[in-house]
Amino acid sequence: MKIRKAVIPVAGLGTRFLPATKAIPKEMLTIVDRPTIQYIVEEVVASGIEQVILVTSAGKSAIENHFDYDFELDTVLQMKKKERMAEELNHISNLIDVVSVRQKKPLGLGHAIWSTRNVVGNEPFIVLLGDDLVLSEEPCCRQMLSLYDEVQESIVAVQRVPMDQTGNYGIVEGQPFTERTYKVERMVEKPAPGTTASDMAIIGRYILQPEIFSLLGETEPGYGGEIQLTDALLKLTEQRGMYAYEFEGTRFDAGDKLGYLKAIIAFGTRHPELGEEFKKYIKQVSADL
Ligand code: G1P
Repeated sequence: MKIRKAVIPVAGLGTRFLPATKAIPKEMLTIVDRPTIQYIVEEVVASGIEQVILVTSAGKSAIENHFDYDFELDTVLQMKKKERMAEELNHISNLIDVVSVRQKKPLGLGHAIWSTRNVVGNEPFIVLLGDDLVLSEEPCCRQMLSLYDEVQESIVAVQRVPMDQTGNYGIVEGQPFTERTYKVERMVEKPAPGTTASDMAIIGRYILQPEIFSLLGETEPGYGGEIQLTDALLKLTEQRGMYAYEFEGTRFDAGDKLGYLKAIIAFGTRHPELGEEFKKYIKQVSADL
């Protein structure tokens, strides 16, 4: 079955980024000229997905407004003959069909995904976490959809991380299947040091079979007292099977201050208008650092 829907949870408080995120959602922090959430939505659009389902909470309406048509702004821009900017804004609102669902209580990532069960329905779907930006030639989402066409089973995107950082991620253990692909045997959310020999960390991209919803519904709070997606993924692995995919590209944790700065350099130096100038500037200042 073709994957048509992408779930993007954006209900989190963004405490890692305070005070910047006190009054604006972290997903609206800008990399050059676009909020981080737009990079995620553009990845989804470039991969042929038809609908985005945002999981929101109070205070996140700026994200919905960003993808909406703004009649007043459009009229003013047209009046001022700023057609190019008007076109750019219309392009954003026409990118894709965006709907939103409220996560009624902050009970964790697993609960956020579970909140979309009635909108996703009985079909496989992709989940993208707003903090994880991937810079790659072929969009990470599209790479995963191609693999899904072959295996027709749930897939988590993974990358190797230094062993002393495994406690920050969901960690996957498995056996090599094909190049870049593993058959998952076990997964654990933020393992304590020394409890896993694997360095394969889950990055915020998942293709999931709809059975995940009933499994999430019966998942008890886990790490940090939250309903963890990883715990339900383990059950799905045991019930149906799961693949881990080492994607091609570089991942940035844009929800972390240092990760965000790195993303600005990576995306800024590749910006079609400013990239070359910015690169020159970075070379110039790095000599003085
Ligand atoms: C979440 C997931 C974790 C995953 C990570 C990737 O954790 O629970 O399994 O490795 O995203 O970014 P969080 O970063 O929200 O604590």
